[in-house]
Amino acid sequence: MNEMAVDYDGLIPNNVGLNADPRLRRALEQWHPSYLDWWMDRGPDGFQAAEVYLRTAVGVDQEGWAKFGYVRMPEYRWGILLAPQVEGRTIGFGAHKGEPAWQEVPGEYRAMLRRLIVVQGDTEPASVEQQRRLGATAPSLYDLRNLFQVNVEEARHLWAMVYLLQKYFGRDGREEAEDLLRRRSGDRDSPRLLGAFNERTPDWLAFFMFTFFTDRDGKMQLHALAQSGFDPLSRTCRFMLTEEAHHMFIGQSGVGRVLEATCAAMNKAGIADPYDTGSVRALGVIDLPTLQKRANFHFSATLDLFGSELSTNAANAFNAGLKGRYLEDQIDDDHVLTGATYPVLRLKDGQVVREDVPALSALNMRLRDDYVADAQSGIERWWNRIVERAGIDFRIALPHVAFNRRIGEFAAIEADPAGNIIGAAEWARRRDEFLPSADDDAFVASLMTPVHEPGKFASWVAPPRAGIDGKPGSFEYVRLE
Ligand SMILES: [Fe+2]
Ligand SMILES: [Fe+2]
Repeated sequence: MNEMAVDYDGLIPNNVGLNADPRLRRALEQWHPSYLDWWMDRGPDGFQAAEVYLRTAVGVDQEGWAKFGYVRMPEYRWGILLAPQVEGRTIGFGAHKGEPAWQEVPGEYRAMLRRLIVVQGDTEPASVEQQRRLGATAPSLYDLRNLFQVNVEEARHLWAMVYLLQKYFGRDGREEAEDLLRRRSGDRDSPRLLGAFNERTPDWLAFFMFTFFTDRDGKMQLHALAQSGFDPLSRTCRFMLTEEAHHMFIGQSGVGRVLEATCAAMNKAGIADPYDTGSVRALGVIDLPTLQKRANFHFSATLDLFGSELSTNAANAFNAGLKGRYLEDQIDDDHVLTGATYPVLRLKDGQVVREDVPALSALNMRLRDDYVADAQSGIERWWNRIVERAGIDFRIALPHVAFNRRIGEFAAIEADPAGNIIGAAEWARRRDEFLPSADDDAFVASLMTPVHEPGKFASWVAPPRAGIDGKPGSFEYVRLE
């Protein structure tokens, strides 16, 4: 049988030969009803009977891996799809570099591997939960469809991780799979594992910022896991990355369209000063300083997802060959890193200083640096170009990595967005300059009224330049019941 052919007939579409593995199929079929309960209970609020123009993964070829069509979300075909196996693949880094990639779980690393899969898996349903109430205030049918596309794909990513747990980790894998449905974003007693996934996503600006900043963390983590010497994890993550690109596009173009609407309204009204926020807001668009503050919040919360700058866990996972660096296979070094160093920003005597530390202990920092560069380039190439073309004197800038942190070197101090260390009193006094104030949030909330007429868009966000799947922006992306 062609291993990559997707079996689309059974309950669970897959290219992992589920039919030939009755034990696994039973485990997944038992998990399925709890999953659907979770989706109905914690997934999108309302709209479950609406027909949504969604893409569904139907293969793993670079071309033609997805088909588009109207689907009711509970009937979405959440499948298990792995990228093709690479013949003769070897482990690319760490102590086992050069050995054949593992097709089974290496016993000595079982617990570490399970933890990596569970942490990744936990973020997927978490974001669906965070976004569950946004449907009610969508600024257009196009945006509503994009929200639901992200939601069903994050849920498919949950399936991807649950497949690994149930196939390779026996009974504790099944328990972990249940726990992934039991934890709840923001829940006091049983929260999601990582902080940023317990924050609220209260409005559409937060959704666009989240998909730009936090889905990009997902991209970095998936890239690092795609390098894994545990081949099934690598193949799973490689296919997930195919979907992830669209999530970041939604954030990048979403904030871009907000900037377009704001700049166009300012120019039309003859407002040159971006800080004249009262006049800008009166136009029904979001002022640029508020957009900057929202970016400050989402960026700093996302940096915490990378963990501590210096980490023995990260070093262990690398040495074990389980989690590599971003684009590990394109880096020109020995991929073992014994004796290598890496520069890290640290807090020394109340100052932010750069210090060379053992590269193995700085792997979180390195992944975070790659993340920052990736986010920075998106901001310059998309967001700031829009503002520049409109002739408005303003730039969205990333805050310093020491700003507003809860985890790592800078958790203990307060810094302004430029990275100057300030006292607690000054922080308290100036907080609303740096981060969205209650008033800013209330203003954004006041704009969140739903627009459900095909081709119409809320005042605060410009129409997209092109629609989805070659359709125009005015296409009826969601058929409401
Ligand atoms: Fe995901
Ligand atoms: Fe995503």
